[in-house]
Amino acid sequence: MNIPSKKLQKSLVAFLAFVLALATPNISNAADAGNGQKVFKANCTSCHAIGRKVVGPDLMDVTKRVPSTDWMFSWIKNNAAVLKTGDKYATQVFNDNGKQAMTVFDGTLTDDQIKDVIAYLAVAKPDAGPVATAATGTETGAPENKHKGQFVWVIVIIIATLFIIVTVLRTVRKSLQAVVDEKTGEKTQVGNGTTVWQDIGIWIRNHKSRFAVTVIFFIALSSVYSWEYLWGIDVTPGYHPSQPINFMHKVHAGDNAIACIYCHSGAEKGKVAGIPTLNVCMNCHKGIQGSTPEYQKEIAKVYYAAGWDPSKGDYTNPPHPVQWNRVHSLPDFAYFNHSQHVVVGKVECEKCHGDVKTFTTDQQFAPLTMGWCINCHRETPVQMEGNGYYAKLHEAIKQKFGDDKKVTEADMGGLECGKCHY
Ligand code: HEC
Ligand code: HEC
Ligand code: HEC
Ligand code: HEC
Ligand code: HEC
Ligand code: HEC
Repeated sequence: MNIPSKKLQKSLVAFLAFVLALATPNISNAADAGNGQKVFKANCTSCHAIGRKVVGPDLMDVTKRVPSTDWMFSWIKNNAAVLKTGDKYATQVFNDNGKQAMTVFDGTLTDDQIKDVIAYLAVAKPDAGPVATAATGTETGAPENKHKGQFVWVIVIIIATLFIIVTVLRTVRKSLQAVVDEKTGEKTQVGNGTTVWQDIGIWIRNHKSRFAVTVIFFIALSSVYSWEYLWGIDVTPGYHPSQPINFMHKVHAGDNAIACIYCHSGAEKGKVAGIPTLNVCMNCHKGIQGSTPEYQKEIAKVYYAAGWDPSKGDYTNPPHPVQWNRVHSLPDFAYFNHSQHVVVGKVECEKCHGDVKTFTTDQQFAPLTMGWCINCHRETPVQMEGNGYYAKLHEAIKQKFGDDKKVTEADMGGLECGKCHY
């Protein structure tokens, strides 16, 4: 009887462990308000906020006013289905909000995610809404400066360490020399009561050619650096001034795939690409208030600048024109024309401005030096096809250079001083 009872004990333990294992995931399945907040931010903030109405109603304390948690679950999962049943509360909310349709989330959100959102909404606090604030610059340059600061410190520490090592070694050498001198009875010059400078002088006298080579090396090195430095004066690729509104090309030209020309319409028409006026922004931003608190804060600056009052839906406030900080700037004596490059040369914006679609702060990509212009004119073949105005000219050039030679902009006169300098 002993053995079977042990077996029984064992299977009991195993059974208990099994039950526990089953129960544990249930515990972690309990609705998670933290995750709910993420789901809310990703799916609901385009229409809802806590503490104010956006497209849909204010969801502050919504869990207290809806008929039940089950109702809310079915509503978020498929509000259209709930409305179809003729549910009284649902119909009322629908009518109170101008009969606008809410997104159906059946298939997009899992049941657990919906439970998490409900848990979040039960405790959610008001977020910062779009407040019309005066435009302030942002500290875009800060992180890089911090890295530079760290870099300087690393160098200082390395130099200090080397200095300490040299001093220690000198002391060790001196005492060793003293021991040797005592044994041999001689008096050596180096390291015996002499200063560092005297030691260096002695070393130079004994190693004249090595010293000369070192000096020449350092002169060459510093000439190269000064040369590069002088060429780099006023050459500022990577320049990214902070802007009064943190306008992100990534959000507009990248995520929302708005064509460059929609905003910079001048680039196809003439010399200057141009910065869009606030009217262009307001074409979209009358409706788009931003899906995250950061976006809302920045878009509120657009409203402030345009004099738009989002609560009244009209331009009733005084306008405050935006003063964008210019990123690119050629000197006045150089002539650059956008349409010549964009339309005639069919050069893509990205060639000269970098991958603007990914920029969160606008920055200068190319060096904008004369050498940069000239190099591209030397390398870029001229677009011969489909160019009515230039067709004849190109034909003549083809005859001059032969069909197989790559005709570059340089062959077209793109290196003549007068083309770029008035
Ligand atoms: C496309 C806009 C839109 C999106 C996205 C949206 N809603 Fe709604 N929501 C509405 C509108 C509009 C109403 C008002 C009822 C109606 O007109 O259909 C509403 C109503 C509600 C209500 C009932 C409010 C009340 O006062 O009882 C809840 C709860 C709700 N939404 C939760 C959510 C949650 C949670 C999400 C994200 C998972 C979400 N909504 C996403 C537009 C939206
Ligand atoms: C929604 C409108 C919009 C779109 C679309 C857009 N931009 Fe811009 N762009 C702006 C605004 C506003 C500025 C000025 C603010 C700034 O510099 O960040 C600007 C600035 C620039 C500048 C710097 C101007 C200067 O000061 O020297 C360049 C270059 C530029 N855009 C290129 C592009 C390219 C290339 C694309 C397409 C990939 C593009 N932009 C798409 C609105 C737009
Ligand atoms: C063709 C439509 C369109 C135009 C024109 C447009 N925007 Fe936007 N903008 C959007 C969309 C879409 C978003 C993203 C909203 C979101 O995800 O919540 C956005 C987001 C923003 C944001 C928040 C994100 C960021 O970039 O910091 C700012 C600020 C902004 N726009 C400013 C401007 C300004 C200034 C102009 C005019 C130069 C402009 N927008 C023109 C569609 C547009
Ligand atoms: C061949 C090189 C090149 C190409 C291609 C090019 N740009 Fe430029 N872009 C420049 C240079 C150079 C400047 C500085 C002009 C100045 O300071 O006079 C500039 C300046 C700008 C500016 C700010 C000053 C202004 O002219 O308004 C904007 C905005 C701009 N470019 C947008 C664009 C867009 C959008 C495209 C594509 C449709 C484009 N660029 C294509 C070289 C180029
Ligand atoms: C990415 C290559 C590229 C860069 C960079 C570039 N260009 Fe050009 N440029 C071209 C091409 C291609 C043409 C030829 C257009 C055509 O087919 O007529 C051209 C044509 C020109 C012309 C007309 C020449 C003529 O024969 O009438 C001028 C002027 C000019 N560029 C000035 C500049 C200046 C100034 C810069 C520098 C600030 C510059 N370009 C930078 C590619 C470039
Ligand atoms: C393709 C256009 C282009 C051609 C051709 C061109 N330049 Fe330039 N040049 C420029 C640009 C752009 C700058 C401004 C560069 C800067 O700001 O760093 C410049 C600057 C200069 C400067 C000022 C010094 C400097 O580097 O900033 C001198 C001098 C000059 N050019 C002389 C000439 C002479 C002489 C020729 C004829 C042999 C010539 N350029 C042909 C575009 C051109």
